[in-house]
Amino acid sequence: MSSFETLLYEKREGIGYITLNRPQALNAINLQMRDELWQVLPAINDDPEVLVAILQGAGDRAFSAGADITEFGTAPSQAIARRVRWERDLWGTLLKMEKPLIAAIHGYALGAGIELALCCDLRIASEDARFGLPEVGLGMIPSAGGTQTLPRTVRLGAASFLALTGEMVDAPEAYRLGLVHRVVPRPRLLPVAEEMAQRVMACDQAAVRLCKEALNRGLDLSLEQGLELETELLALLLGAKKGRAMP
Ligand code: COA
Repeated sequence: MSSFETLLYEKREGIGYITLNRPQALNAINLQMRDELWQVLPAINDDPEVLVAILQGAGDRAFSAGADITEFGTAPSQAIARRVRWERDLWGTLLKMEKPLIAAIHGYALGAGIELALCCDLRIASEDARFGLPEVGLGMIPSAGGTQTLPRTVRLGAASFLALTGEMVDAPEAYRLGLVHRVVPRPRLLPVAEEMAQRVMACDQAAVRLCKEALNRGLDLSLEQGLELETELLALLLGAKKGRAMP
């Protein structure tokens, strides 16, 4: 197991397990955690032994209660904060991950916590999970991609409700909105996430990778362009199966 200061990372039987590990602060995402996630994600992409990653939170109470509010306003200047953000585009890196990511969510998933889960391909919640975007109440807007990823995941009306009111929703409501794919009793959270990972791993991995790319990139294209992308990726896949290397 690799141990960072704020994350635990281990791999077992094809699955990379990333655990947000600041349970004393409800796994709030501080700068250190951002940096460590930024290091671990490319390593997962590059590791042929890892086919799928599961993200989870340590402790009993939270997947993540969002950005670390104790660090708000601590950057030496707005310009430096912006530069660091641009150089280490964690959320862009997450969205461009080649391998499928599964979020196993318990307890609070607030602010950047819910946004982290939105960067994953599949989301499973335990019955105690609670979701919310409190940013507007704090004089901010979601800034880990949430204003864009949430309405691409749930309908715009549901995204507006969460983002403009800051109200929390429970796991059954999150399921009804389409925010999570399954709701399970707490002890079943990791086993169900692992079952889902197994299902993905049982498939052709080149097909999984290209299908993920088609789904995610296609959303920003017209239908016509999206269909072209699908045709291109299929040709790439079939070419690879005939022995031509994929780029
Ligand atoms: N950043 C830093 N620390 C956080 C945190 C965050 N986002 N969320 C919780 N914590 C810390 C608390 O400060 C507390 O630390 P302490 O024990 O040293 O005092 C610990 O985690 C437990 O949280 P606490 O507030 O005591 O638990 P609670 O059950 O009373 O409330 C929440 C739980 C999630 C409702 C509450 O912690 C909260 O509102 N957190 C902030 C959520 C937020 O605004 N996130 C988005 C920022 S954009």
